[in-house]
Amino acid sequence: MHWSPTQECHMPGSALVLRLRKPTMYDADILLAWRNDPEVIRWSRIQARQDDREGHLNWLSKRLDDKPTEIFRMIETTDCVPTGLVWMSRDSDDAVPEVHYRVDPAWRRRYIASRAVPDFVRDFIRPIRNGSFKCPIFRGNVPSERIAEKLGLHAGPAYRMSDTDTRVLVEWVQ
Ligand SMILES: CC(C)(COP(=O)(O)OP(=O)(O)OC[C@H]1O[C@@H](n2cnc3c(N)ncnc32)[C@H](O)[C@@H]1OP(=O)(O)O)[C@@H](O)C(=O)NCCC(=O)NCCS
Repeated sequence: MHWSPTQECHMPGSALVLRLRKPTMYDADILLAWRNDPEVIRWSRIQARQDDREGHLNWLSKRLDDKPTEIFRMIETTDCVPTGLVWMSRDSDDAVPEVHYRVDPAWRRRYIASRAVPDFVRDFIRPIRNGSFKCPIFRGNVPSERIAEKLGLHAGPAYRMSDTDTRVLVEWVQ
C-alpha cells in the first residue's frame, strides 16, 4: 500500500514539521487507541468505548477516501510518527462542515493541533462553498476551545444533547 500524497504544516520558529496525509488501514490500531482514550471519550458526543474491532475496521475502510461529506487526515511528523487526527464531517453536501480533532496523549500540549488544524481548514474547508465551518465543543474542554479561538471562531449556540447528558455542547462558529 502506498502513502497518500502529503501536505506539510510548518510553524515559524519550530523545528517540528508536521504533515497531513490520508489514513490507511495500517492506522487502524492507533486510531482505535485514540478513539478509546479517556479524554477523547470524555469530550465525545458518544461516551462509549469502541471494543468491536471488526466494526472499527469496517468504519475505517469507508473513510480512506475523501467524500463531499467527510475528509479525514492523519497528522504525522516528517519521520512518519502519527500524532493525531483532524477531520471534517457534515450530514449532507450542502450542510455547514464540522471540524473535529484529536491528538495522541503523548503528543498533547506540544502545539500539534494548533499547527495542523488551521492548515487543514485552509486546505480542505476554505475551498468548500463559502468556506464556513463550525466546531461543536463541550463547555469546559479548554484546549479544544483554544484551538477554536485560533481558528477565528467564537462561541455560538449552546444546548444539551439529551436530558440525561449534563454537559453543554457549544457550537463555535464564524
Ligand atoms: C484538544 C486537543 C486536540 C488539543 O491538542 P494539542 O495538540 O494538545 O493542543 P495544543 O498543544 O495545540 O494547545 C492548544 C492550546 O490549549 C492549551 N492547552 C493544551 N492542553 C491543555 C490543558 N490540558 N489544559 C489547559 N490548556 C491546555 C495550550 O496551552 C494551547 O494554548 P496557548 O496557545 O494559549 O498556549 C487534545 O487535547 C485532545 O486530543 N483532547 C482530547 C480530544 C478532544 O477533546 N478533542 C476535541 C473534541 S471537540
